[in-house]
Amino acid sequence: MKLCMIGAGYVGLVSGACFADLGNTVYCVDKDLDKVNMLNKGKIPIYEPGLAELIKKNYSSKRLIFTSNIGHAITHSDIIFLCVGTPTSKNNKSADLSYVYKAASEISKFINKFKIIVTKSTVPVTTGDKIEKIILQKKRKKLFEVISNPEFLREGEAIRDFRFPDRIVIGSNNKNTTRKLEALYEPLIKKGATFFATNRRGAEIIKYASNAFLATKISYINEIANLCEKTNVNIEDVSIGMGLDKRIGSRFLRAGPAYGGSCFPKDTNALTVTGDLYKTNLSIIKTVIKSNAKRKKILINRIKQILSNKIKNKKIAILGVTFKPNTDDMRESSSLVVIPYLQKKGAIINYYDPSGKKKEFSKLKNVFFCKSIETVSLKADLIIIHTEWDEFKSIDFRKLSKNKRFKIYDMRNLYSPKKMKKLGFNYFSIGR
Ligand code: UDX
Ligand code: UDX
Repeated sequence: MKLCMIGAGYVGLVSGACFADLGNTVYCVDKDLDKVNMLNKGKIPIYEPGLAELIKKNYSSKRLIFTSNIGHAITHSDIIFLCVGTPTSKNNKSADLSYVYKAASEISKFINKFKIIVTKSTVPVTTGDKIEKIILQKKRKKLFEVISNPEFLREGEAIRDFRFPDRIVIGSNNKNTTRKLEALYEPLIKKGATFFATNRRGAEIIKYASNAFLATKISYINEIANLCEKTNVNIEDVSIGMGLDKRIGSRFLRAGPAYGGSCFPKDTNALTVTGDLYKTNLSIIKTVIKSNAKRKKILINRIKQILSNKIKNKKIAILGVTFKPNTDDMRESSSLVVIPYLQKKGAIINYYDPSGKKKEFSKLKNVFFCKSIETVSLKADLIIIHTEWDEFKSIDFRKLSKNKRFKIYDMRNLYSPKKMKKLGFNYFSIGR
C-alpha cells in the first residue's frame, strides 16, 4: 500500500520503516528540513537498536522516502498516519494538540481522492472528532475517514514491539476502513498479533488507559518495595509471588527508581486532565503521579543515609543516566533530579552512560562525563547503578575497588545482596 507518516520522530520513523519492510511504499514527512536532509544522507536522528539498518535497506529499495513536501506525499498515498508530537502543554498538564490540528488542516489541502487519516500519536479522547471537523471545513466527508491506531512500542525495543505487538488496535466508525487497516497489518496478524477493532473514541482511551495502568503497576511495586525495605523482605520474591497470579501478570513489576520517559509522565498527566474535563476524578492516576514524584525524594534520602548525610566533597559515580537502557532518551529520567541535588550538596559527580555525554548536565559544576566503568569509578566513595544497561550486569567490583573501598547503591537490583556481602561490599539496593 502507499502510506504517508507525518512526523519522522520516534513513532513516525520506526513504524514507517517497519511498514516499508513489509513491502509498502512509505513517505516519511517532516517539517524539520535538517532532519529530512540527515535521513536522506543515511543519518538517523534517534538512537534505536536496529533502526539504521532497517532504514538503509528500505531506503535503497526506494520503499522508504524522506521528504518535507507534505503535498506530494499526501497526494501519492492512500493512508496518512499522524505521528507528530503531542507534548505536555505549557499552561496545564494536558496534551498540546496544536501540531496535530495544524497537520490536519495541511492534509485537508491535499486530499485529491479518498484518504484514510490515522492518528498514531497519543491523542486524548475526541481528538479524532476534532480532526474530522477541521478537514470537513475543506472536504466533503465521503472523501476521507479519520480513525485511531495507537502505537504501543517501547523505546529501545521499538522494532521488535512493532513486529510482534500483543495487539493491533483500530478505532474506526467505518467497517470498510477497519478492513483496509486489517489488510495492511495482515503480515503481523499472520505472525500471531491480535487484531482488535473498536470505535474511534474507544481506541483513543485504550492507549491512555494502558499507559496509565502500566505506570500504576510500577508505582505500586515501588511502594511495596518501600515496605519490604522496612520489613527485611526481598521485593523480587514479592514480584514473583504476585506475578504468578495470571490476573496480575509478571511483567512491569520490577521495582526501581521512578518511571520516566516521553510517555508515562506525559500521558498520565494528560489523562487526569481529560478526566477532570468530563468531571471524572481519576484519583488513582493522580496518586500515581504524586507517588512517582515522591519516589525521587525517597531515592535521594536513601543516598543521604548511605553517605551518613555527608555529601560534600564525596566522589559519586553514576552508572547510566537515561530513563532506561538501549535509548539515549533522558526525558523525565530520575537522574535529572538526583544528580543536580547531589551537585548542589557539594558532591563531585562522575557519570558514564553507553549512549554518551548528556547536554542536560553540561552546565553543572563538578559533574563530569567519563567514557568507561573503570574511569567513572576511580576513587569513588559511592557507585550508583541508575540504568540497567547490559554492560552493568556483570561488573567485577573487586577489580574496580583495588584502590578504594566504595559503597554501592543498585537502583535496578542487578546483583545479589548475599553475593555482594560475601565479597565484602557495602551494597544497598531497592526493596531488599
Ligand atoms: C509521538 C507523540 O508525540 C507521542 O504522543 C506518542 O506517544 C509517540 O509519538 P514522538 O514520535 O517521540 O512521539 O514525537 P517526536 O519525536 O516529537 O516527533 C514528532 C515529529 O513530528 C518531529 O520530528 C517533528 O519535527 C515532526 N512534526 C511536528 C512535523 O513534521 N510537522 C508538524 O506539524 C509537527
Ligand atoms: C512506554 C510503554 O511501555 C509503551 O507501550 C508506549 O508506547 C510508550 O511508553 P517507554 O516509555 O519506551 O514505553 O518505556 P517502558 O519500557 O515502558 O519504561 C517506562 C519506565 O518504566 C522506565 O523508566 C522504566 O525504567 C520503568 N520500568 C518499566 C520500571 O521501573 N519497572 C518495570 O517493571 C518496567
